[in-house]
Amino acid sequence: MTTAIVVVVVLVFVAVLVWAVADATRRPAHVWQASGHSQPGWIAAILIVPLFDVFYLVSLRPELASLQQSATTEPHGPPEPQLRADGQALLRVEDLVVEFAARGGQKVHAVAGVSLDILEGETLGLVGESGCGKSTTGRAIVQLPPPISGTVTLAGQELTKLGGTALRRLRPTMQMIFQDPISSLNPRRKVRDIVAEGLEIWSVGDKASRSAKVDEVLDAVGIDPANANRRPHEFSGGQCQRISIARAVVTEPKLIICDEPVSALDVSVQAQIINLLQDMKARYGLTLVFIAHDLAVVKNVSDRVMVMYLGKLCEVGVPDALYERPSHPYTAALLAAIPVPDPETKPDSEKVLGGEIPSPLSPPSGCRFRTRCPKAEAKCAQEEPQMREITPNHFAACHFPLEPGEALDFTKAGTGAFIGLEDGADEDDDV
Ligand SMILES: Nc1ncnc2c1ncn2[C@@H]1O[C@H](COP(=O)(O)OP(=O)(O)O)[C@@H](O)[C@H]1O
Ligand code: SF4
Ligand SMILES: [Mg+2]
Repeated sequence: MTTAIVVVVVLVFVAVLVWAVADATRRPAHVWQASGHSQPGWIAAILIVPLFDVFYLVSLRPELASLQQSATTEPHGPPEPQLRADGQALLRVEDLVVEFAARGGQKVHAVAGVSLDILEGETLGLVGESGCGKSTTGRAIVQLPPPISGTVTLAGQELTKLGGTALRRLRPTMQMIFQDPISSLNPRRKVRDIVAEGLEIWSVGDKASRSAKVDEVLDAVGIDPANANRRPHEFSGGQCQRISIARAVVTEPKLIICDEPVSALDVSVQAQIINLLQDMKARYGLTLVFIAHDLAVVKNVSDRVMVMYLGKLCEVGVPDALYERPSHPYTAALLAAIPVPDPETKPDSEKVLGGEIPSPLSPPSGCRFRTRCPKAEAKCAQEEPQMREITPNHFAACHFPLEPGEALDFTKAGTGAFIGLEDGADEDDDV
């Protein structure tokens, strides 16, 4: 962009120069004599001024470039207060933005300025409804694909600025486990080869030590190494997720992003896999991001829980505080949606969040949750609530956070007069 500006300005100067020289050359000799100057002297003067300007502009290029850089990397709004001091975190994500191109030149605002950090050995639970941007956040952290802006710092290394080779070298230190274990394993390869793949790509040790490591991790996840020559379809869903976990830990990563690792499994198997992840965390010294759409799933495994809605974080806290005293109406709605294990207990319609998550093509103005929030007031449409500390270490982005024990009536959600279609938030957009 900067180069283009300089090129255009230079071309304009050259055109003016050519015109001025041609004009001066055309004038008859008596015009020069009457002015008291020589013709070559005028031409030199015409040439010197614009040439000086061109050289000056070219010399300004570095300043123009740095100005442009600072304009594109300027953070959106104030820094997120839930971040802990610099240097404490293994992973620090600041102002992450991910957008996807959609039909008609529109943009899907999948992640809109998310900031988070995780201390070494912590588990961070990331929760929200389907489509709120959890997987996109997880993938942007491991740079698959990189975010359009924001920073991701893992063990002191800023990943978004790294080129291909430097980033590939760091790949073994950050792994992902996906929701559907069967489709995330290559059906044509033997389980032994699937688990060994990371070691082979990175030429870790020799063939014998690689084989011993594969046996060790398979044994650790509860798969008999004697069955490692079978293919994934010969195992159950839960066993396939164990194999995925073995594949993730074999390279001894620092960070694993578990993207809904139990959502596709039978309820009876879910607890086994969650316990296995806890064991692996202790055994291999892992730091985990645990993504789920259900607050109940992450409660017992997380050191900190973050609730996400339509590309933004709305509440952050330790599980006890967040589950006992939710501050954000959306967190309260998610908690109310946790099923009670009693067939006689029917869901309370006043506590159930209705409606659909709005389209990320044109999110509502102000607070993104306002179209479904029973506490919404005019301010919620006009001003975006910023994340702030409600009680120590408990943060929420809400203009009117809930008081402890305050009940919400979700049957009244979205009926406020100010909640209109003026910003297109409720239009029936297709993504
Ligand atoms: N590759 C893509 N192209 C276009 N839109 C996408 C793409 N990936 C995700 N999205 C959109 O981004 C939003 C967030 O998606 P996702 O991160 O998968 O949500 P979640 O994991 O919370 O269910 C959704 O609206 C989804 O449709
Ligand atoms: S800012 Fe307003 S609309 Fe948003 S959650 Fe709080 S009360 Fe509801
Ligand atoms: Mg997802």
